[in-house]
Amino acid sequence: MKKIMLVFGTRPEAIKMCPLVRELKTRRGVETLVCVTGQHREMLRQVLDAFGVEPDYDLMVMAPGQTLFDVTARVLEGMKGVLEAAKPDIVLVHGDTTTTFASALACFYMNIPVGHVEAGLRTYNVMAPYPEEFNRQAVGSIASYNFAPTALARDNLLREGKPPQSIYVTGNTAIDALGTTVVSEFEHPELTWAQGSRLVILTAHRRENWGEPLHRIFRAVRRVAEEFPDVKVLYPIHLNPLVRQAAEEELAGCDRVRIIEPLDVVAFHNFLARSYMILTDSGGIQEEAPSLGKPVLVLRDVTERPEGVKAGTLRVIGTREDVVYDEFRTLLTDEERYNAMSRAQNPYGDGLASHRIADILTKGRTTV
Ligand code: UD1
Ligand code: UDP
Repeated sequence: MKKIMLVFGTRPEAIKMCPLVRELKTRRGVETLVCVTGQHREMLRQVLDAFGVEPDYDLMVMAPGQTLFDVTARVLEGMKGVLEAAKPDIVLVHGDTTTTFASALACFYMNIPVGHVEAGLRTYNVMAPYPEEFNRQAVGSIASYNFAPTALARDNLLREGKPPQSIYVTGNTAIDALGTTVVSEFEHPELTWAQGSRLVILTAHRRENWGEPLHRIFRAVRRVAEEFPDVKVLYPIHLNPLVRQAAEEELAGCDRVRIIEPLDVVAFHNFLARSYMILTDSGGIQEEAPSLGKPVLVLRDVTERPEGVKAGTLRVIGTREDVVYDEFRTLLTDEERYNAMSRAQNPYGDGLASHRIADILTKGRTTV
């Protein structure tokens, strides 16, 4: 029996790998194993619980204030033991985190084939996003299977000389997840708080925004929120203490910006679906928003998700305070721009990405 192991460790990887775990577990002739590195702890547990996935292995690497060195070293060392014990035929990793890079490297050292889910995203600037652009390029050079979410991602891989027979365009499993989370009946105390207002969702956590960029973003958001009495901003904040401290310093005492603990994925997707617009530096949210028809101002200088920009849903605005202020204000006042950006166009597939990946791994071809 073919043994397939999925390895992931952070919230976004879990959200996009759990649909694949569930799909693979329905297939005959394969044994599906799940190893979590625990790069995230509480934020990972929220996702595992939401999807009902119980890991077979947990490296529990997370430590408060961990560095790239800590995570890389602990995952690499921990994966050695797991791979020796489980002896998988293939290991699937996702995207671009340190978990992804270090576990793919462990497989490479042990000559175990790697399948890369969400392969081929690129900015071609290893400093942005940092260190994610390096991670995904490095995994790309190891992977035997490249599951590209879009034709554009496939083209990046082809241009880099990856063998065409190793690349499959599957759609993004983020859309598979969305298909199971958004419901018509949804209640939450924070929705009651926002009732009668335009609800704006804010998230920001990226390494390259730590420090002054986060402060600039928060100051701009506060200024706009205080100017528009009909706007409420909800910020489910990342557990990173650095992010929390900056938010506390800039947003404390502003009653139209509410900071809350991270939402579980079902709640978060339902908030997105009911929001007016989104401000974020997150990668995953850039994929989800076009599907929901919600305009996004991307708080980064570059994006590896140009499909959403082309579809008209995303606008990459960087982190200058005056620019964030102007762009946020404009979306609240310029109806034409708002309508153009909120036209739902989803470039990330039909929600069957997991099905296709499972087909390729079990039958060597896709049936949908
Ligand atoms: C990581 C990924 C990033 C991804 C993000 C998703 C790397 C280098 N970065 O960044 O690509 O966008 O996850 O959110 O792989 N913490 C907790 N509990 C949790 C999670 C985090 O307390 O459940 C705190 C800890 O203090 C931890 C810190 O957040 O040390 C940073 O976590 P880490 O995974 O190192 O970095 P992220 O910024 O989350
Ligand atoms: N998300 C969530 N709860 C929250 C905020 C985000 O479940 O409070 C989800 C979101 O829908 C998306 C993913 O987490 O699927 C994005 O994760 P994150 O922003 O941490 O990482 P990135 O995508 O930037 O790597």
